[in-house]
Amino acid sequence: MNASHDYQRVYVWQQPVRWFHWINALCITALAVTGYLIAHPPGVLNSGEASFSYWFGKVRFIHFVAAYVFVANFAFRLYWSVVGNKYASWRNFLPLTGRQIRQVWDVLKVDVFQSSGKPVHVLGHNSVAYFTYFGTALLTVFQIVSGFALYAPTSQSWFPQLFVWIVPLFGSEQNLRLFHYGVMWLFGVFTCIHVYLAVYHDYVEGHGVLSSIIGGWKFMEKHKITAEEATGMSGLPGRNPAPAPGAKPNPAR
Ligand code: HEM
Repeated sequence: MNASHDYQRVYVWQQPVRWFHWINALCITALAVTGYLIAHPPGVLNSGEASFSYWFGKVRFIHFVAAYVFVANFAFRLYWSVVGNKYASWRNFLPLTGRQIRQVWDVLKVDVFQSSGKPVHVLGHNSVAYFTYFGTALLTVFQIVSGFALYAPTSQSWFPQLFVWIVPLFGSEQNLRLFHYGVMWLFGVFTCIHVYLAVYHDYVEGHGVLSSIIGGWKFMEKHKITAEEATGMSGLPGRNPAPAPGAKPNPAR
């Protein structure tokens, strides 16, 4: 066991990444709950005046507002993957290097096959996490395109009209609705595995990964930080300017 003074606090997730994460999680929760209600509307009996119990309209309204926020938040994260720090960079999300691909196997041995007791120590996400998030980004694009295409016939606004071309590709609105509904469940599956792994990694690695998505900081043994910087994993060496002489190591970037 390393002594606590060997650990260094490293600022990994910048504030925009953390805001993106929690707004995204909130939107997906709101979209999934209201989406499920839209797909399976319960028969609510009410003896009041119909115009006072416009609850289904409110459910749809929340779904559409959350969808617009979801799009804006996603567009912002795309922008941040170009201007943000090395842990936020778009390059990490794609399997571009042999090291990234090899790391997938090392992570799976710990997370899935449980055949190795040596967790992979990285400051950013590990490669499995990065590639999974890339997969969720593709699902996000599909939900945006399909959702706004389904919304277009009931909206005068220009934005949903941009996506009407997708309906003929799926044969009918009903087919597209089925895919939109199925992907909602994929997000549910992703969330269960994601939260489990975040807790599991927090436990086996002891780097404070859970609190990092709230405060931005992780804790790592100094020699592991040096080793990671040397391999260039989970970040792009040289992308960030070197700290000025005499500056504190790992300043918030
Ligand atoms: C209580 C619920 C949640 C917890 C505790 C949680 C925790 C975390 C943690 C600790 C990380 C960074 C870990 C890493 O290195 O990979 C992370 C990243 C991420 N999470 Fe979650 N998460 C939650 C809900 C969600 C939901 C609902 C979604 C979307 C369906 C989501 C999508 C993501 C994405 C896309 C990232 C990468 C962020 C980026 O680099 O931009 N999370 N989460």
